[in-house]
Amino acid sequence: MEDLRNKYIEAIANAADEAALEDLRLQAVGKKGEVSLKMRELGKMTPEERQVAGPALNALKDEINAALNAKKAALADAALDARLKTEWLDVTLPVREQRRGTIHPISQVWEEVTAIFADMGFSVAEGPQVEDDWYNFDALNIPSHHPARAEMDTFYMHREEGDNRPPHVLRTHTSPVQIRTMQEKGAPVRFICPGRVYRADYDQTHTPMFHQVEGMAIGKDISMANLKWVLEEFFSAYFGTSVKTRFRASHFPFTEPSAEVDIQCSWEGGTVKVGEGDGWLEVLGSGMIHPKVLQAGGIDPEEWQGFAFGMGIDRIAMLKYGIPDLRAFFDSDLRWLKHYGFAPLDVPTLHGGLSR
Ligand code: DAH
Repeated sequence: MEDLRNKYIEAIANAADEAALEDLRLQAVGKKGEVSLKMRELGKMTPEERQVAGPALNALKDEINAALNAKKAALADAALDARLKTEWLDVTLPVREQRRGTIHPISQVWEEVTAIFADMGFSVAEGPQVEDDWYNFDALNIPSHHPARAEMDTFYMHREEGDNRPPHVLRTHTSPVQIRTMQEKGAPVRFICPGRVYRADYDQTHTPMFHQVEGMAIGKDISMANLKWVLEEFFSAYFGTSVKTRFRASHFPFTEPSAEVDIQCSWEGGTVKVGEGDGWLEVLGSGMIHPKVLQAGGIDPEEWQGFAFGMGIDRIAMLKYGIPDLRAFFDSDLRWLKHYGFAPLDVPTLHGGLSR
């Protein structure tokens, strides 16, 4: 009995895992285990022998069961310890720095412009950047021989050999969206179209891609007076100070009459300040929509009339935020973006403030 005891107590102490423990349990105290077999022999003993052997065997059985349970618990503890070691987490470590990007000034101004015009009842229209030359030119009363075509430094998207249809162009202005939106919405209508435009031009003040916002309002009796009010309202909201405008007679193929619009500014100390002084700065082209343009948009010029304007978003962004170099807008220099960018959670609204 002492041999059995030593054998199993030692084996249990050395068991590597639960499966080995179970094997040992069956070998020792299972139905056909060694201790159980010994118990069966009790019947063949004399009563005196049985009185000694019986309790001893029972005690041995209890001891082995206790050892099995203790070992089982020890194995489970060890497994848990091992897991805790690998899953260990130091909650006192400082958090990793979260890098937060900024909103590009163009995106910011785009949203500001949209918010201001939305408040005056203008919706936002969109059109393709790869444009049919009919929408970019002909429909806007710029026929193929017109000098404006040559002046626009247009990027052409050449067709395949043998395809003689006119080439697509990268839109040179947002004006083609006038035609598409008139076709889609009819009259009366009031919308702006902010977007990217392209011209083959690159120097201090020009980039091959830049941004414009087009505006259009069509009704029964819309006039230049409405245009002037809308623009003054826009510039005053945008610059956060009352801004006067000056209309100069000009010429665009798609408007008649046409006007270039200047905003009031001062040039003192080598910097431009909008809304003060008696200087002027040209910021947009505009006019009453040409009857041929209304017609191209499927709107009857005998019944409807309206104004249109187009201005450079990049230009008014530079003016408002004192950004001196246009080309830096599109360099993707992180230091520049951090300096001129806007907090991502501050969405410009008229009630919440256009910018911070
Ligand atoms: N499309 C013109 C340009 O890119 C700007 C313009 C002028 C737009 C007069 C208009 C307008 O809608 O009426 O230079």
